[in-house]
Order: sequence, then C-alpha cells, then structure tokens
Amino acid sequence: MLLDSVVRRMSVSLLLLSGAAGPACGAPPATTDALQVLHWWTSVSERRAVDVLAHQAAAAGIEWKDGAIPGGAGLGAGKVLRSRVLAGDAPEVTQIIGLSIGEWAELGLLLEIDDVAAAANWSRSLFPTVDKLIRYRDHVVAAPLGIHRVNTLFYNRRLFDRFKLQAPRSWAEFERTAEVFRNAGVAALAQSSEPWQVAALFENLVLATGGPAFHRALFVERSAAAIGDPRLLTALQRLRRVKRWIAAPADERPWPAVVTQLAQGDAAMLVMGDWAKGELNAAGHVTERDFGCAAMPDTGPYHLYSVDTLSMFAKDYAHRPAQEALARRVMTPAAQSEYNAVKGSVSVRRDADPARMDACARASWTTFAAGDAVQVPSLVHRMATDEASKDAIVAEVHRYYIDDAVTPEAARERLAALFRALRVSATPVHH
Ligand code: GAL
Repeated sequence: MLLDSVVRRMSVSLLLLSGAAGPACGAPPATTDALQVLHWWTSVSERRAVDVLAHQAAAAGIEWKDGAIPGGAGLGAGKVLRSRVLAGDAPEVTQIIGLSIGEWAELGLLLEIDDVAAAANWSRSLFPTVDKLIRYRDHVVAAPLGIHRVNTLFYNRRLFDRFKLQAPRSWAEFERTAEVFRNAGVAALAQSSEPWQVAALFENLVLATGGPAFHRALFVERSAAAIGDPRLLTALQRLRRVKRWIAAPADERPWPAVVTQLAQGDAAMLVMGDWAKGELNAAGHVTERDFGCAAMPDTGPYHLYSVDTLSMFAKDYAHRPAQEALARRVMTPAAQSEYNAVKGSVSVRRDADPARMDACARASWTTFAAGDAVQVPSLVHRMATDEASKDAIVAEVHRYYIDDAVTPEAARERLAALFRALRVSATPVHH
C-alpha cells in the first residue's frame, strides 16, 4: 500500500518534471500545489482511473497525493475520513458520494465551488439528477466524475455459447438459465457474502420485483406500505433462492475477486455495478467478445445509479485555487471521456457522445438520459438514504442472507421494526 502510493507520487512528480503532462503550448500551469486525495479506488482498473485523474491534475499544475483506502463501496474510506477530520487532519480532496455529501456540507466543512460551476455552466451540461446531487442548499460542493449502473448483469460468453444460452431478460429466464448451469455443475452466479455486495444484489431484486417507484418507497421514503407490500416478500424469497446458484454463498471476497471468478469461467453470471466492466477490460477481457453486459433481468428500462464525486475540504482556503482547478478539470469533456472509459462508468455530461462509447456504456448512458422516471438511487451506494440508515438496512439484509433459519417473513418483520426505529430517530425533537 505504502510503496504503491510512494511510487504513484513519484510517477506524477516525474511526469511534472518531464513536462509530459504539462499544458499544451508550453504555457505555465495556472497553479502549483499538492492536494491529498482520499478515496477507495484500489483495484487495477480503479487505480488506472485514478492515474487518469492524477494526469489531469498534473496538467493543471497540481500534484495528486494519493490516499487510497481499501474497501469496496468505501466502508474503510468513510471511517478513515471521519477520524482524520476529527483529528483536525482533513485531506484537501475526498471521494464522498450521494447523501453523504450533504452530511459533510451540513457541518460547514466543504468548499463551495459555485464559481467554477457557474463559469463552465455545469447546470446546463449536467444531467439534472447529478446537478442536484452535487448541491447543498444551492451551493455546489462536489465535482462529478461518472455515473455507474448498479443493475448490470455480466455473463461469461464462453459458457453461454457452450450451453447455447442468451442473456436472461426476465426473472423466469434468469431462473431457467441458472438451473441449466446448476444441473451441469457450473456455478450460475458469482457472488460474495460481503454485506454491501449482498445488499446490492438485494436492491437489484427489489427493483426487478417492484420497479423504480417501489424501490424508492422502500429505501428513500421507507414507507410502511412498502414494507407491507407482498413484493418485498418476493424479493426476500428470491434472495434466498439465488443462494443455490452460488458455489460458496458464505464466502466474503472483495469484489475484484468475484469479477475474476466470472472472467475465468468459474461462474456464469454476475450482478454488479459496471465498475466490473472496467476491471474486466483492465485484465484484457473485451466487452461483448469475452463477456456480455446486460441489464439485471426485469430491470431493462431502469437505471440503478451511483454517481462518483470529489468534494474539497475548505480548511483555511490555502488550497482553494488548486482545488478549484481540479474541479474544473475533471468536468471537461476530454477528462470525462478518458476517465469514464477506464472506470466503467459513463459521463455525467448530457452532451457526451454515446456513439463513442462501447455497447455497455451506451446502454447505461442512454437509459440514464431518459430521466427521472427510470432513474433509481442506489441504497448501497448512498444515493437513497443517509449513511447510518443505509448501514443498518445492509446489516439486516445480510443477516437474513447468511442465516437460512430466518424466514423471509421474519426478515420482513425485522426490517419493519428497523424502519420504525429509524422513523422515530429521524423525528425532530421539539422543545
Ligand atoms: C461505489 C463507487 C464505485 C466503485 C464501487 C466499488 O460506491 O461508486 O466507483 O468504487 O463503489 O468499490
């Protein structure tokens, strides 16, 4: 880890020295500063995506001091961020996403980058959903990087060809396909039992079973009606059902290991955000040739999203010019297309060119572009609710997944009790 970040720092400085990443026409960069950036991108493709951003920073005269904290979905990074801020040692830049941006902004700690956003007319370039995500009380407090699609089904082409199968589009087809593999002794589904990965599969099943309005009613509004809805029971039953298609359902593996399992043909399908595509590509597997990318069955028209963003800590404003320059830079069309092609996500810009994307990205971008009605904020990736509620729901879903003795009805009761508790704790106290 340490060595890795030292090497990265060196390579960025070397680039600066050699002028390889300097601005065109030999003009001096506008600022010269070093920014610490805290994030959770540690897989091969994620590190490459970070390199793209570090090069972009270097071109603007900024040294990117890398602070990568391992842990899928940012669980480790969140803890490190909190303790660093409490210790008075906040990084200059941090990856925080979704509703956690507002949680930090509420404390008055984030730099407002309204001028950057206004000068480049971000409101006009961005999808409205993304524009909303980066604002807190009408101030822009985050720079958007890319949009991930969480309801993506990857499948191993070689295995699908061998069994003459096509990507399943509905739950019935999904079951049929999985059973073909199971009967042939092939694990139909690659899946880790890490809590966030289990919950990600579950929210896919909720979306597949109930559609966008139901997913929102459950995870954004946490309505009593949604908890009582038979579709929740169906989603829970399906989460139990898929266990039989997984080789080692209790195995907790980081997500890149699960992607490798699919790539090597040790499992036929994988439900995962499209950062898995970045990872497959980085390992030399070609989209559509070696693996297929489709929507999670029964969610074809919908986009379960996670938007990656960088926020800046204001501190004493000493780094403001560099922080603003970085924010400006990552939103440029060139940086957007280079970064997202590596990361597996798609551009946050409405003026991006889908013709230049691969089929997987094009489907994601055009689906997202259809607007609010098809867009679904991901629970696991903090787009739907606050951090504490998200953690509690994820833990409850995981408990049910792991323990076959808990019935779907009992799991639903536990979720109902949890939702009631969250509602009480969210009620403002009047004096
Ligand atoms: C998400 C994030 C992605 C990817 C993923 C796995 O929260 O949006 O960029 O890092 O976690 O860790």
